[in-house]
Amino acid sequence: YKAIFTINDKQSQEKMDALRALGAEVIVCPTAVEPEDPRSYYSVAQKLAKEIPNSYYPNQYANPQNPEAHTLTTGPEIWEDSDGRITHFVAGMGTGGTLTGVGRYLKSKNPAVQLIGVDPIGSLYYEKFKKGTVGRALPYVVEGIGEDFFPTTMDLNLLDDVYQVTDQECFVWARKLARMEGIFTGGSSGGAISVALQVARGLPADAMVVVFVPDAGDRYLSKIYNDDWMRRHQYWEAEWQATADQVVRWKQKRHPGERLIIVATGETAQRALQLMQDNEVSQLPVFDEGMCVGTVREDEILNLALRGADLAQLVLRECMKAPLPVLDLEAPIDRVTYLLTNESPAVLIGMGNKEYEILTKYDLIEMLASLTESPAGAKRGPVKL
Ligand SMILES: Cc1ncc(COP(=O)(O)O)c(C=O)c1O
Repeated sequence: YKAIFTINDKQSQEKMDALRALGAEVIVCPTAVEPEDPRSYYSVAQKLAKEIPNSYYPNQYANPQNPEAHTLTTGPEIWEDSDGRITHFVAGMGTGGTLTGVGRYLKSKNPAVQLIGVDPIGSLYYEKFKKGTVGRALPYVVEGIGEDFFPTTMDLNLLDDVYQVTDQECFVWARKLARMEGIFTGGSSGGAISVALQVARGLPADAMVVVFVPDAGDRYLSKIYNDDWMRRHQYWEAEWQATADQVVRWKQKRHPGERLIIVATGETAQRALQLMQDNEVSQLPVFDEGMCVGTVREDEILNLALRGADLAQLVLRECMKAPLPVLDLEAPIDRVTYLLTNESPAVLIGMGNKEYEILTKYDLIEMLASLTESPAGAKRGPVKL
């Protein structure tokens, strides 16, 4: 058989590669369009099914065999493996095939079994379940769960509760599951585990929560399991849970009275160079009307001088580079370290009232060094601020 898959562009490259490796044709469609839009992956699949003679369109969103497969297989397996002791079933909400199919079977065996759906923020299910209203679908990154319409394969009336999850929660929990339990899975499973743990927390000891983990982690090696991707998209959760505020406070205590040195756009390169040398810093933020509008660096000014620029005449407005990134005091420390190691030699921290503090890699290293050394110079345990 010839297989054609329509898939949206937020799905991982690994999924597309695997389908193509198996000989399928993959048509990638935009995620950011309405389901009725002719470019959506739903519409493209329907169109192909109409156009291609003798084709079969499984349509997972409307095919009763989707939930039925779970009623016939997954449901009985869970019931039997738990010896009928299951009290709660937690699963991600995609087409609804899993929850509806498993739910129908479990409720037929014991109507008291609680069915709990896991929905990403941005999907329509949560609001529909809680209030009966249809909100506005917003983008989210986790794959496989949440919908921007209501498929007939999902029976929301069957559910007992729905929890929302964030992308970060899904990814961080998927990573924890791999490291802590050796279960290598994807973001929708991470979200389901996160919710299952919240549900389990308030339950008596004889409750049995079963959580459905439907995926394989190697489909997300370039995303969830790629440290750089996690940092770049600000999903990384550092083991050291500090904020920029703590580093700023530490710096101010360590160097009392030290103030951020700035230059104005109208000042000369010579003046900036002098200021840098006097204060032993290698870059300065350039300010205009209380806002950071640029940066000047010592090595760049020296380069200009070598190329014949008259530093006494050259105003910074004409030679400054892009401003330093600005973060607020609540910014997580891993955001600061990501910017310092990948994008900028320093970051500005907004302190309110148009006041700023500057943090460099050196400040972080100095602080870490002081926190991990005991008075005798021996290493201490984990860093606590
Ligand atoms: C990774 C992943 N998680 C969860 C789901 C949700 O399952 P269901 O469609 O049965 O609701 C899917 C559906 O394809 C999926 O691909």
